[in-house]
Amino acid sequence: MRERRAMAESTIPTADELAAAGLGLGIDGAVARITLSRPHRRNAMTGRTWTTLARIGHTLPEGVRIVVVEGEGQTFSSGIDLAMFDPAGGVPGEDSLFARIAEDPEDTEGLDEGIAEYQEGFLWLRRPDIVSVAAVRGHAIGAGFQLALACDIRVLAEDARLCMKEPALGLVPDLTGTKPLVELVGLNRAVELCLTARTVGAAEARELRLAELVVAEPELDRAVDDLVAALLATPAAAARATKGLLMSARYNDLETQARAERAAQIARMADMARGR
Ligand code: CAA
Repeated sequence: MRERRAMAESTIPTADELAAAGLGLGIDGAVARITLSRPHRRNAMTGRTWTTLARIGHTLPEGVRIVVVEGEGQTFSSGIDLAMFDPAGGVPGEDSLFARIAEDPEDTEGLDEGIAEYQEGFLWLRRPDIVSVAAVRGHAIGAGFQLALACDIRVLAEDARLCMKEPALGLVPDLTGTKPLVELVGLNRAVELCLTARTVGAAEARELRLAELVVAEPELDRAVDDLVAALLATPAAAARATKGLLMSARYNDLETQARAERAAQIARMADMARGR
């Protein structure tokens, strides 16, 4: 069973698997575009969406440097498919954690594993060898907001609306969104946003540093294309090393970070001297 899963995880999802997960995937050279693609449910996501996202991350061709995450239609994502909360019905073909806990409330280890698998779908978007860009129009609610937070850069249309809805539903945000939220807006604002579950519009999102760029809705795709072109203009190895350094700067003290800068620069210079 484990072997079969490992094998499946090592292959890029097929068109049918992507469709079943409510996802689209286009890879064009160095750029991958992931589209949340269940517009009839406002791009609501399921467990399969997240495990398939993880598989996309694991099987991304080596040359991919930029990953754009976007929603089909006028909504980025309405978050978790609310049917996933229904322990009786759930979503057909989905492994519902709510059904599992209803069946066996003691199986916390299994649930922990299940949530960790979902989180994998979000974690890889921070990898230093890629830059991930969320292109958000309309609502990004709950898991949708957390997916945008998992990306390195958020480009918002003026109609974007962000909401951390989980606490209002009796839950916590558990799809890797709490850390970037606190890092971006600070603890106090994060408490206010999560515990009121209020909706933040694009202008406030920019003020709160939840958006790197806000553009008129019809300009969103072009703004993302321009950003992608600018990112690709930087040599890949330098981009990877620099993103790695910027990420470690959040945890390192100054001395450790200065040492990391020296090591990274020496590695770059050595590569350049060898013509790489
Ligand atoms: N799950 C399942 N179906 C959803 C959905 C969701 N999250 N969001 C919307 N839909 C469905 C609606 O049921 C509706 O279906 P029908 O046409 O069959 O009636 C269709 O999508 C269109 O929805 P609306 O008419 O409501 O569309 P709208 O444009 O007026 O509003 C919206 C869009 C603001 C996203 C609104 O649909 C909404 O608030 N949805 C629920 C959002 C929500 O609470 N999500 C859960 C957040 S918590 C989380 O993600 C993580 C977690 O808990 C672990």
